[in-house]
Amino acid sequence: MCRILSLYKPSVERNVFMKTTKIAVVQTSPVLGQKDKNLARALSLMQEEAADVYVLPELAMEGYNFTSREQVNALAELSGRGPAYEALQAFAQSRKAYVAYGFLERAKEGFYNASALLGPAGLISVYRKTHLFDREKLFFLPGDSGFQIYHLPFGVVGMMICFDWYFPEAMRTLALKGAQLVLHPSNLVLPHCPDAMLTRCLENRVFAATANRVGTEEGGEGPLTFIGRSEVVSPRGEILARLGPAQEGVCAAECDLSSALRKDVTSRNDVFKDRRTEFYLT
Ligand code: ACM
Repeated sequence: MCRILSLYKPSVERNVFMKTTKIAVVQTSPVLGQKDKNLARALSLMQEEAADVYVLPELAMEGYNFTSREQVNALAELSGRGPAYEALQAFAQSRKAYVAYGFLERAKEGFYNASALLGPAGLISVYRKTHLFDREKLFFLPGDSGFQIYHLPFGVVGMMICFDWYFPEAMRTLALKGAQLVLHPSNLVLPHCPDAMLTRCLENRVFAATANRVGTEEGGEGPLTFIGRSEVVSPRGEILARLGPAQEGVCAAECDLSSALRKDVTSRNDVFKDRRTEFYLT
């Protein structure tokens, strides 16, 4: 478990009336195919930290480094069903909290690398990963959900999954739609994302919670090692909480999400109003 490194304060003094939202990222080391064991471990880490929102890794229960379509088929779940959904929904209900977690979604037309957002009253939405990474293209359909926002009691949130970060348009779209917080289940193998997210947050003036996994997984075309460093980042590009590269854990930060409504950089600059879209290519 890590401590909160800093409490994000906008320009005004924090006082007893300021409502903050506690955002937790849960860093696990799933074992490929062992869904019950992976679920139990995730829940035990979640129980260590009281929070308003929990973010778990991409494909948090299934593992990542698949070898065959048969293996993917055996692990897939319908959205809003299955032991992981039931257990995480019960957790959300008992804690009056919200949970975003990656799962392998079974649909009529094939499989999606998806993220569910659920709350005390049940499933809120499912996001299907837009930008598939490397061998994911062998097993998953490219996501068709687009980048949606959800109005939760504490603020407006959006979701993206792992490699989506590489495409600035993903977070920009969520921010332009009004997201104050981006929930980002991940299975990062390249080293860049944790630091790059500081820029993503700064250029969009939003909070982000990236939950990554750790460990090395055999399978696929050889072992993959995941880089951890799950984190919560502020609209000013500050790391509010971050875990290490190799150990499981949970860490959280108290955030004033209203600060993500402000897009000003100086008294004369605003990251949205200053955009010159007539000069941009899509
Ligand atoms: C990734 O998108 N899981 C690297």
